[in-house]
Amino acid sequence: MGLTAYTAPMAAALDPIVDLMLVGDTLGMVVHGLPTTIGVTLDMMILHGRAVMRGSSRALVVVDLPFGSYERSPRQAHESAVRVMQETGCQAVKVEASDGVPETIEFLVQRGIPVVGHVGLRPQAANVDGGFKAKGRIPAERENALLEARAVDQAGAFAIVVEGVATDIADEITRAVSIPTIGIGASPSCDGQILVTDDMIGMFDWTPKFVRRYGAMRELVTQAVQAYARDVRSGAFPGSAEMYNFSAKAAAAEH
Ligand code: KIV
Repeated sequence: MGLTAYTAPMAAALDPIVDLMLVGDTLGMVVHGLPTTIGVTLDMMILHGRAVMRGSSRALVVVDLPFGSYERSPRQAHESAVRVMQETGCQAVKVEASDGVPETIEFLVQRGIPVVGHVGLRPQAANVDGGFKAKGRIPAERENALLEARAVDQAGAFAIVVEGVATDIADEITRAVSIPTIGIGASPSCDGQILVTDDMIGMFDWTPKFVRRYGAMRELVTQAVQAYARDVRSGAFPGSAEMYNFSAKAAAAEH
């Protein structure tokens, strides 16, 4: 069972409970307010990866290789993955399995880099796919998702994220590959599940269909901020318990 993490305090909260923390490139949208993951850079991933590693001691930490950092060649991917592993201390990297990427996965695995593949709805391909659309409406999409998953498995990845595909395709992929599948908008038959933490805890008004909200964090934040604003504006905060009241007499007694 996995969740995304982008910061040290969230990693510390998740680490005792989850098996896997993904420093996903969704951090561009969730933390930085970008419209897609395309604007996320390798330096951003490394910064957040380091923060998450400081908050983690037991869960497996996987860091995404962002758009543009691995597609040009296996050598480019290797340089990016080495930076991520050395500068964050994470245990593995994840790549989206577009054309040619299985060869890159093989190249990385042969050089000691554990890799998770990502198939189905691949957010880094949103501009060529016409947005964030679940796969499986037409036969070609169904075939592609299965082919991608088989290729990722054969290339030596140790797990596959299967995102936004028809449930029966996720079932078929899970049966067809030898490695664990981790579903998100996929199927309960996947070997594991993952969600974006901020979606799951209710930080956003809108979430994709496949998200279940387990909290109402946005409302809690609003309530807390409103209560704080009320207290500050009325003079009720800070109170005596929140102030330093060193009397001159007590200070003299210290000496
Ligand atoms: O970037 C990310 O957070 C992801 C998850 C949606 C699986 O890839």
